[in-house]
Amino acid sequence: MTYASGNFRAGRERTQSAIGNHYFHCMYIVLMKKAGFRGFNTRAVQAGEIKDPRFGNVTTPIFQTSTFEAPNTTENAYIDNTTGKPFMYGRWGNPTIQAFEEKYASLEGSGHALAFSSGMGAISATVLSMVGKGEKLLALNELYGQTYTLFARTMRGLGIETDFLTLSEINRAEFDARKYKAVFIESIVNPTMGVADVKRIARVCSEADVPLIVDATFASPYNQRPIELGARVVVHSVTKYIGGHSDLIMGIAGCSGKEFSGTANLRKALGTNPDPIQSYLAMRGLKTLGLRMEKHNSNGMTLSRFLSDHQKIRKVMYPGLETSEFHSIAKENLSGYGGMLAFEVKGGIQAARTLMKNLRIASPAPSLGGVESLITLPVDTSHGGLTPEERMKAGIPDGLVRFSAGIEDAEDLIEDFNLALEKI
Ligand SMILES: Cc1ncc(COP(=O)(O)O)c(C=O)c1O
Repeated sequence: MTYASGNFRAGRERTQSAIGNHYFHCMYIVLMKKAGFRGFNTRAVQAGEIKDPRFGNVTTPIFQTSTFEAPNTTENAYIDNTTGKPFMYGRWGNPTIQAFEEKYASLEGSGHALAFSSGMGAISATVLSMVGKGEKLLALNELYGQTYTLFARTMRGLGIETDFLTLSEINRAEFDARKYKAVFIESIVNPTMGVADVKRIARVCSEADVPLIVDATFASPYNQRPIELGARVVVHSVTKYIGGHSDLIMGIAGCSGKEFSGTANLRKALGTNPDPIQSYLAMRGLKTLGLRMEKHNSNGMTLSRFLSDHQKIRKVMYPGLETSEFHSIAKENLSGYGGMLAFEVKGGIQAARTLMKNLRIASPAPSLGGVESLITLPVDTSHGGLTPEERMKAGIPDGLVRFSAGIEDAEDLIEDFNLALEKI
């Protein structure tokens, strides 16, 4: 087993350094990169961890400190990736946050990563660091509502125009990438479960040397790694599958290199850094991402098949179903289809509400990707701000139900659905 020291100067002896008139024992920290392991789950557990041989700690500590001694002239000082210097101030960087970033980057295959206080923090800092006043962004029309609002209203107010294309238009590559400073897509769209052809879009963008930014929240780094498919930047709402337990709000951006320093500077300026406790929780979530996604994937598929065969269900939207118009694109771009599905109940919104009221396992709540199943009507939550016409245009009838399959036993979820559907 090799322990490669990463971004800091390591040593095994306790050292002393003079700061002012005092001598301090230098905390001796080892970043265990455990180079050479290829398996996703091994890296999920081992990569990025900060271990101090003096304590023998097995998990990374929470560095609950807002500031750091400066200047830190210690020979073995631990280095902040964003500055190339020892840590100095918590809004710039913190060892626990950085440990999470290292673990994520190892799984995403992204080289670099920056964590944020929310998924929206990751999206806004990334896009604003890459597209400026007078420049144009191309984006998918069927985006998460808040992302759409950021591009269509907030950024427009700052002098940054966004052109929107539908998923079908973007998948058919009906755009001239050279007109744009960046292209932004979601790889699986909410709530209709359409799938973007990331490989094809990335090819078109890279021919024009325009960065493709992919929000891969619904896929997670277990089911899809957009950088390997040719994208330059990937963003996630860590709140969902990466955190995995519906107990935190956080975001992350991974990039192959070029974009890192601009986005890091904007994170500093906007103050969209996460805190060390959240980062610790996210890191803990990441350790079981592979195990959880296997179960989310199989529950998503089992439930989609069950609902497709049920006489009270009109339509199921799940990219793993062979009947999905996105199935072949999904097979090309995803290694698993995830736990998110949408369906229409015969009888419309009243029937959908009756179903939701009678389910005992799934909680009625927005958000997704946690170990517990969640169910929501987009008309009441994520898409409530649209007019009925806009919703129909986006393919979202009022009776459409979105389900986030957790990791409960599939037999229990099916029995619960069976009983609740009987009440309609
Ligand atoms: C696809 C997608 N991207 C981004 C976000 C924003 O993430 P957060 O709520 O962590 O800011 C969400 C939230 O639901 C989402 O579904």
